[in-house]
Amino acid sequence: MTQEQPQSPGNFGDHQLGIYLNGMFADLTPELTTDLAALEDQARAVLAPEALGYVVPSAGSGATHRANRAAFDRWRIVPRMLRGSADRDLSCTVLGTPMPAPLLVAPMGVQTLAHPEGELATVRAAAALGVPYVHSTQASHSFEQVAEAGGGAPRWYQLYWPTDREVCLSFLERAKASGFSVLVLTLDTPVLGWRPADLDRGFLPFLRNVGIANYLTDPAFLAKLAKPVEEDPGAAALHWAQMFPNHGLSWGDLPFLREHWDGPIVLKGICSVEDARLAADHGMDGVVVSNHGGRQVDGAIAALDALPAIADAVGDRITVLFDSGVRTGADTVKALALGARAVLLGRPVLYGLALAGQQGVDHVLRCLLAELDLTLALSGHAGHGRPTRESLAAAQDGS
Ligand code: FNR
Repeated sequence: MTQEQPQSPGNFGDHQLGIYLNGMFADLTPELTTDLAALEDQARAVLAPEALGYVVPSAGSGATHRANRAAFDRWRIVPRMLRGSADRDLSCTVLGTPMPAPLLVAPMGVQTLAHPEGELATVRAAAALGVPYVHSTQASHSFEQVAEAGGGAPRWYQLYWPTDREVCLSFLERAKASGFSVLVLTLDTPVLGWRPADLDRGFLPFLRNVGIANYLTDPAFLAKLAKPVEEDPGAAALHWAQMFPNHGLSWGDLPFLREHWDGPIVLKGICSVEDARLAADHGMDGVVVSNHGGRQVDGAIAALDALPAIADAVGDRITVLFDSGVRTGADTVKALALGARAVLLGRPVLYGLALAGQQGVDHVLRCLLAELDLTLALSGHAGHGRPTRESLAAAQDGS
């Protein structure tokens, strides 16, 4: 596969002009909406019912997802004028990874539910822009397939720590060999949350061997099966099911990871100051403030509400990242202003993927980057370092 040249930094806003020029002089309009907050509605129309149920809804009553979105609306950007916005460069380096803007693609499993090319389409789109892609343990494609599709672009690996340590070690080795530079350990999913949309359909893709490609290509995993997967696929799925809920993990297990992973390690799913401090005390390099997009604990604190106190408590010791509810460039500015070094984009990527494969992901990332660039420029925060708390005000009208 030939790689497109990564986009040069600082010109993401040009995407807007390109759209206008296409519309006015070539009678071409974007196939997907440029309103990323509305993309979900378009995706709902094309996702198969089981895929829709897995991707879109959240745990329980959906209160955590609603809280995630509402939290963004309680902050307003305070535009500043006459500060110059010609010299715009969003590029940054996070945990040793250079990126064109403080944006990564969040780890999301089972992407073939959204599109047959799944993670391969996503990583190609991200790689073409130089946006780091985070590979889920529960992906429908293996480390090696994703690495081949992503070429030399930056990529991180998200670990769900399997109960079998040999499999865990094998995953770490394969990830390293495949060029994944940062390890993201997700802590908020020792077991799946209560997800009525899936439960009502009795649908869990992994039990059909979808979303367990890393396992089904793993020598340590395969060595434990009595028969090859082709001969007894059900037994392979059940063996996976013994590994995935890992209730036994504790802070005392982290040195094992440090011993076997020589790059940066980030803990994902942190929502409390206490846990963020524990992460720093245990020598971790960063945290992702996240509630898994509301897919785990119903009625949980909004991730954005947790961010400022965590950034204050540990931001000078470790790297604070953020996800859960980011839909627009303005959301990204708010998260950066509240202390995140970078944000991870979740569901909108899958909506783009569902609607138009690699092109759809490309559309979503370009729109987000352009809106981020323009929002920073319009609000006078371009070229002034990261936006800060002073760049925001609490909403006064309650709307
Ligand atoms: C996820 N997420 C996730 N997180 C993770 O650490 N490993 C995983 O395998 C997955 N899988 C996954 C699948 C799907 C379909 C979704 C929507 C999400 C959570 C993801 O990384 C991120 O935390 C949330 O998507 C952020 O919330 P929003 O912005 O998508 O609402």
